Amino acid sequence: MHLGDRTMTRRRFLELWQTLLAALAGAAALPPALFWWRSARLPAGPEEGTWADLGRARRLKEGQWVARSFAVERRDRWRQETLREVVYVRRRGEGFDVVSSLCPHAGCRVRPRDDGGFVCPCHRSAFDGDGRPLEGPSPRPLDPLPWKVEKGRLVVRHQRFRSGVAERQVVEG
Ligand code: FES
Repeated sequence: MHLGDRTMTRRRFLELWQTLLAALAGAAALPPALFWWRSARLPAGPEEGTWADLGRARRLKEGQWVARSFAVERRDRWRQETLREVVYVRRRGEGFDVVSSLCPHAGCRVRPRDDGGFVCPCHRSAFDGDGRPLEGPSPRPLDPLPWKVEKGRLVVRHQRFRSGVAERQVVEG
């Protein structure tokens, strides 16, 4: 009887121990699960389209590229960061040209040249005044960005494109 009581007690102890371990494992998994659930519900980031205000449209001079920059919030499941994007803009009649400043070769920032074109400092790709490649390894012209005018302000859509390929492929925005 005494031995049987001891056996039951040991079995009961093991059951309690297993229950305790399962509860601890569940508690340990809770914070990551909550983090995943919360981050999965973050509002849409630039992947689904961010439009940036570039200022009064009529202030842009005809035929002259100017740089404009804006901040973009990038969010994914694990982190959030703020990017500073730079684009080049020029007026053309009633419309505008807006191109990304990121070189299609490997993503360095191109700079304007005195002749109205652009040059990339990394591997010396050169582009004419319409963003077409003149020399260097860039596989395609500078990437144009969608734009619109809202209440007199020029608004551009943030987009990024795959580097190093001839065909333009949006990878963000
Ligand atoms: S990144 Fe521009 S030429 Fe290579």
